Amino acid sequence: MAKRQATEIKGQAGRVLEQDLNRELSNMQVLYVKLHNYHWFVKGTHFFSLHEKFEELYNNTKTYIDDYAEQMLAIQVKPLATMKEYLANATIEEASGTEEEEEMVETLAADLQAVSNQLLEMVDGLEEQNALSLADAVQDIARDYQKEGWMLRSYLGRD
Ligand SMILES: [Fe+2]
Repeated sequence: MAKRQATEIKGQAGRVLEQDLNRELSNMQVLYVKLHNYHWFVKGTHFFSLHEKFEELYNNTKTYIDDYAEQMLAIQVKPLATMKEYLANATIEEASGTEEEEEMVETLAADLQAVSNQLLEMVDGLEEQNALSLADAVQDIARDYQKEGWMLRSYLGRD
């Protein structure tokens, strides 16, 4: 018989997952604002390509955030929903406001890789809790961020 989607995550493992899910939601919200910061303030010879790339990344992140938070609600995990909580729970730092174009790309490559790794660390726990749709969504976001991280490193001429 096929596994059913759980209606809520349970127990101590569920509480840990709840914290981890909200940490990654917070990271995506911080990234969303940071990408706008870079989109608006990038300067230099690569303005047109980076301005456009950062827009693509924040648009994708916007879609991820809403779907991810609603999938949290579907398993009865309350998503954080204030800027104060996002800043308190995120492990990604906000833009400093002084980054040059290359530093913007370097920072984002590291951020996307870090979020991707952290998302993937939640997959086993989500599957154990039968939160299979959310586990799939988490993997899709992680895969996309991993690929974007690689592209940004390639842009910089790095592996
Ligand atoms: Fe714009």
